[in-house]
Parts: sequence; C-alpha cells; structure tokens
Amino acid sequence: MKLLVIGGGGREHALAWRLSLSPRIHKVFVAPGNAGTAQDRGLENISITAIPELIEFAKKEKIAITIVGPETPLAAGIVDAFQAADLRIFGPVQQAAQLETSKIFAKEFMQRHNIPTAAYTSFKDPALAHQYIDRHITPLVIKADGLAAGKGVVVAQTKEQAYSAVNNLLVEKNLGGVESGIIIEEFLQGIEVSFIVMTDGRHILPLATSQDHKRLYDGDLGPNTGGMGAYSPTPFISPDLHAKIMHDIIDPVITGMKEEGINYCGFLYAGLIITAENQAKVLEFNCRLGDPETQPIMLRFKSDLFTVIEHAVNGTLDQVDIEWDRRAALSVVMAAHGYPENPRKGDVIHGLTDLTTEQENTDNFHIFHSGTRMDGKDGKEILTAGGRVLCITALGENIKIAQQHAYKLVEKIHFDGYQVRRDIGYQGINYQQRKQ
Ligand code: AMP
Ligand code: GLY
Repeated sequence: MKLLVIGGGGREHALAWRLSLSPRIHKVFVAPGNAGTAQDRGLENISITAIPELIEFAKKEKIAITIVGPETPLAAGIVDAFQAADLRIFGPVQQAAQLETSKIFAKEFMQRHNIPTAAYTSFKDPALAHQYIDRHITPLVIKADGLAAGKGVVVAQTKEQAYSAVNNLLVEKNLGGVESGIIIEEFLQGIEVSFIVMTDGRHILPLATSQDHKRLYDGDLGPNTGGMGAYSPTPFISPDLHAKIMHDIIDPVITGMKEEGINYCGFLYAGLIITAENQAKVLEFNCRLGDPETQPIMLRFKSDLFTVIEHAVNGTLDQVDIEWDRRAALSVVMAAHGYPENPRKGDVIHGLTDLTTEQENTDNFHIFHSGTRMDGKDGKEILTAGGRVLCITALGENIKIAQQHAYKLVEKIHFDGYQVRRDIGYQGINYQQRKQ
C-alpha cells in the first residue's frame, strides 16, 4: 500500500520514516518533503501543495491513507476536502482544528467543559485592553487569536511591554489573525510539558510524553522559537498525573467536541504547565503532533504506525496498543544562522553522508531533516532551506545518555552559522539526578 504525508518539516520526516517501516507499506509520498525524505528508503517527495491537486494525486496513486503534519492545511480544511472526495485521511476537520486556530475558541471551549487553564479575558478594543493591564499585575501573557506561526504570544514582564504588545496587535495590526481580537491571560508558573494523544473521536490512545525547549538559548533564555529540542518520556508526568491529565483534560476535550457535534479524529496536542502543586493546566491545544516532539516520540515508537492510524481512521482505536522503546530519546535541533527572526538559506551542510549510511544499520539514532534541500546542480550537496534545519535524534538508557549520544552526533555535522542549544533535556536530567 501507499501513503501520503502532508508537510515538509522534521515532524513529517519522522512520521514518514516510521510509516515506511510498516511491512504493509511499500511507498510513502511526502508533499513537499525535504532532502531527508528525498533520501530515506521507501520515501518519495512530490512537489504539489494545493489541496485539489493533492486530491487528484491521492486518487491516481490509490493512496491508502493521507496523514497531515502541519496546522496550516488542517486550518484550510484539507481533511474536509479529502473526505468530501471519499478519500481516507487522518487529521481533524476544520471545525475541530479551531482548538488550535483560534485561541478565543479554545478558551471558551475550555470554559464550557471545565478544563483547567489560565484565567483570561478577550479584547478587540485596545483601550479596554490597556485598562485591564492597569488593573492587573505582571507578568501577563498577550496572545493573538489566530494562527501566527509561534509569533502571536508575548509574555510581558512589565506593563510597558504589555501595552506595546497590545498596540502592536490591535493598533498597528502587525500580525495576521488578529481581526478577531486578542486575549490577555494569567501567567502560569511551572514546568512546561507536551502531552499528545491520538483519537478516533471516541477512543483515545496517548502517545509517550515529551518536553520541548521553546527558547533559542540555553537556560530557556532568548526569543521563542518553534522548538529547539525535545526528549521523551518526561519524568514530570508521573503515572498519577498522567491519569489525571487524561481525566481532567483530554477526555473532556473529546467528549466536549462530540457534545458540540464535532467528531475529533486525529492527533491532539496539549501544551501543559505543571504547577508547583503538581496540577496540570492547559497553555494551548494544537490539532497536530508537535515539532520537534514527534522526532523523539517516533524514534521510540515500536509498533506498526500505519496499523495504528488505520484503526484511528476506522474508529477502532480501542483495539490497538502502542509498544514503546523503554529507552529515552532526545532530539537536538540545529537551526540556521539568523533563526528565528531572519533565517539564512543556502548554507552547505557537511558531515551527513557517513551518518546517513550509518543510521541504516542501527535503530538508535536518526537524523531528521527540516529545512533542507538537495542542491539542484549535481544533487549531491545538501543545503539549508529553512529556520530549523536538522533534528538530531538519539536513544539512550536515560535522558542523560541520550543527550550525550545526540550531542556526539551534532559534533559530526557542520554548516556555517548554525545555532544549537547545548542543554536540551536539562530539566529532566536534573530531576532524575535529584531522585537518585
Ligand atoms: P503558545 O503559542 O500559546 O504555546 O505560547 C508560546 C509559549 O509562551 C508557550 O510555550 C509558553 O512557554 C509561553 N506561554 C504561553 N501562555 C503562557 C501562560 N499563560 N503562562 C506562562 N507562559 C505562557
Ligand atoms: N513544539 C511545539 C509545537 O509543535 O507547537
């Protein structure tokens, strides 16, 4: 059978790679993919991205199931369009994707279904937003309503920063997705973790837990990024807390959607803060897998991913289980010069050839590509082509050993101006060392 994966980042490389290991699958197309998906055995890039053309392609190639990686096509209704064309696809429909595409929708939904989250107020009028800031203590978090590729959130430490974030969004309208307004919410203090599940709308299958690193620099400093590294599992989610998150957050989302007439079928990602009282509160929902969280999760995923997704699409997710590698996996993102503000493209990446050969003979690491492309002239060189370039993912007996393994691989790769955090996994490692 043949599959189609939509997207071209590290998450899609990891998904397509894991899907290609299914004995039932002989080809995974990736649209548009990157240099990594161009090289891995069993994967093939296609250069189309428009939904009607993807539908034509899926019909012509008799694609068994299409799997959607990023939020943009979900927000554009790719799932609705495929389903209308009688094609099988895994991902939430447009209405369900509002959990990610509208912060106001998500907040109102959480209120309706008693899901723990930061207190908030929504605004369209900058004067009212300023009055609210006057009456509250900082830090305050200001968020644009719509999708903003990670740029729509400001954690304002001072009132001046809060006023300026409001003005930027509501007066100067410096961002898409603010027509519908902004929200200002309470700052939540705690440890941030990622909790991702698969659901068919009735049954829920949690994936392994993980933790992302959103800031550009070591020690969680510097600007927000899409994510500079991740590891799985995270020790901050104990079995008790896991059960509580399922009960208080994930179950109410899926049953709440159902009550509101929406069948949520797809991945669901809850970005959570674990407070000092060991309570989980929702920072955000995403209607897709996380990037880079997917990369360590897929390296640990031992079952046949295609079969699991097939059950989800068929509504029988209660009939499967996922087997996980008991080791930890850790991913380090190598980002381009100038990322996240203004990433430079076109730098030659050195050191990949030997690693690409080596990874075919081992299951304990994988170099996932994000913004990369093959050089057009002789097709031999691989060049940077985006903000996050590579995601070096390795297994180890614990987080520390996985970290050492990943950074050893990072040392073998070079491109001009690359940026890398040196402390991915530090919170989990410190926690494990305190427990010993
Ligand atoms: P979001 O796009 O909603 O995930 O926000 C981006 C990042 O801002 C999150 O990953 C958090 O690190 C931070 N953040 C968002 N909302 C809050 C909040 N209410 N309290 C503390 N940090 C937050
Ligand atoms: N790594 C965070 C996200 O995918 O949104």
